[in-house]
Amino acid sequence: MDSKKIIIAIDGHSSCGKSTFAKSIAARLGYIFIDTGAMYRAVTLYALEHGAINSGIVDEERVVSMLNDINIDFRFNPQRDASDIYVNGDLVEGKIRAIEVSNCVSAVSSIGDVRSKLVAMQQQMGKKRGVVMDGRDIGTVVFPEAELKIYMTADAMVRAERRYKELTAKGDKVTLEEIYENVVSRDKADMTRAISPLRKADDAIVLDNSSMTVDEQMVWFMERFNEVISGK
Ligand code: DC
Repeated sequence: MDSKKIIIAIDGHSSCGKSTFAKSIAARLGYIFIDTGAMYRAVTLYALEHGAINSGIVDEERVVSMLNDINIDFRFNPQRDASDIYVNGDLVEGKIRAIEVSNCVSAVSSIGDVRSKLVAMQQQMGKKRGVVMDGRDIGTVVFPEAELKIYMTADAMVRAERRYKELTAKGDKVTLEEIYENVVSRDKADMTRAISPLRKADDAIVLDNSSMTVDEQMVWFMERFNEVISGK
């Protein structure tokens, strides 16, 4: 084990660029990047495809009864320079971003047994350290001992405008108002759920990137990282 390698926990609101940020940090440091949201999405996709979610209603007992049949793993894809997620050997990276999955993932991620299973997997993945993990409960539940914890946020309208630009560039017919409402309601769902709600760990550093470029965020991060590594 390389004693200099640390665990970097990145939590925060949805649509504030956590995964992009975490991925570029991992690439810069030669660390492994783990997108824990993808794991909750993968369980949701499996539940959808195996009849445990009907007309948007999640049958919690059925989802829990399926958990032992769901094997999740990440495999590095050099073309994307990132890891793809597989469920029982099938590549599901594209499917987990579909709107049907997005609409049900909050409900699935609020099931205690789902969280216990995925948290245990995440802890196993981070055992060797040298990981950047992004999610909602990484600094509070998965790795409370992480050496560097970042709590990311940005103004809700700024986040909505960024998503609006992304979606309209892809040709999606959406309005800024509906995106804004979705951002606000997802914040509320993440922060008010009974189990492991999104909250800032006491020792996390806040990064509000409302008016920061990606390059500025990297400069900000490297300063924090170097402070931790040099034991400041
Ligand atoms: O980061 P994302 O939007 O892909 O996450 C999808 C969902 O999973 C989101 O509703 C929050 C939930 N989630 C969670 O509860 N805990 C995590 N560690 C990561 C994601």
